[in-house]
Amino acid sequence: MFESLTKAPGDKILALMGEYAADSRPTKIDLGVGVYKDEKGVTPVMTSVRKAEERILSSEKTKTYLGIAGNKGYGNAVLDLVLAKSVDRARVRIAQAPGGTGSLWVLMQLINRARPGATVYVSDPTWANHNPIAINSGLKVATYPYFDAATRGVKFDEMLAALDKLGAGDVVLLHGCCHNPTGANLTDAQWDQVAASLVRTGALPFIDLAYLGFGDGIEPDAYGTRKIVSSVPEALIAFSGSKNFGLYRERVGAAILIARNAEQAEVTNSQLLNIIRGAYSQPPDHGAEIIRTILDDAALRAEWETELAAMRNRMISLREKLSAAIRERSNSTDFDFVAGHRGMFSLLGLTNDAVEHLKAANGVYMTGDSRINVAGIPEDRVGDLAEAFLSATR
Ligand code: LMR
Repeated sequence: MFESLTKAPGDKILALMGEYAADSRPTKIDLGVGVYKDEKGVTPVMTSVRKAEERILSSEKTKTYLGIAGNKGYGNAVLDLVLAKSVDRARVRIAQAPGGTGSLWVLMQLINRARPGATVYVSDPTWANHNPIAINSGLKVATYPYFDAATRGVKFDEMLAALDKLGAGDVVLLHGCCHNPTGANLTDAQWDQVAASLVRTGALPFIDLAYLGFGDGIEPDAYGTRKIVSSVPEALIAFSGSKNFGLYRERVGAAILIARNAEQAEVTNSQLLNIIRGAYSQPPDHGAEIIRTILDDAALRAEWETELAAMRNRMISLREKLSAAIRERSNSTDFDFVAGHRGMFSLLGLTNDAVEHLKAANGVYMTGDSRINVAGIPEDRVGDLAEAFLSATR
């Protein structure tokens, strides 16, 4: 049976975790995979999560099935969090799914049922897993201009011109906030223009919302998503609770669909549920029930928001410290963009050789495209890191 197979390429982001673990140098620094780390270098279980888990364990009476769309209370709480009042809920359906990736996957399958072989336009560059999910779902992938390597900002005019050329039946994958891998994000005014373009062309917006609350706050980070869904007749959103609730291994996410009207929502949702049933039947509940418990309880929610703000502010402060340390040592503003980026990542714009050199000579790990996870910057080693980056770019 399996003789016909050849070895598949490994995942570059996850492989880096193994490489880092195998490095015995005590001075190594992990700026690779996108997981938050605190000042001790630990990815903590949030206190609000711990409290919610304790409540669940002491009150849970059954582990019977919940159904294909998963935990309904979770679904409603996520819709309130993500959409607020931006769209008539009669047009909206949500299915809990395993992580942001699982949500992307079921929604890509849905697109392929509606438009077999449709093209998904992704930002250049985008998260390394977007293309495989689309291709494995039978879709085609093309890019739209996004990152400006010269300014480390967004090439917005080129992006908009490319989006304006799309048509109904095309799909535009947008990062709702905290762009991965670049860290360069759209302003509110630019989101308004993207929404207007989508209205003009009829292309379907598909928003990957994996870092809500990691940029400037829940409300500012939700601006683009809410603007788009309040403007267009149809949209898809893949939500992840991995990062903002620190629930990575629990695999909790949600596939959200917004249809033209309530009838179309019902029909489209029946296809989504049919896809899920034929894939993994129903999603796992534990992570979803944690998020529901937190969002539905005023005190726990306030505690979660405080913890989320602390993670966000720490990442912003690390960005500022790294930029300042490089500026002091180089007398140049070349890395100031790191302080201006938002979310977990910044794309430094180093060559692959420089990335390999940093790994071999300094034990500094980042993805081959020179994406750094700013949460991995050790507070007491910012100077060392600045020196290493400067020597790698000389
Ligand atoms: C990342 O981009 O590093 C994270 O989203 C983790 C992953 O699954 O790739």
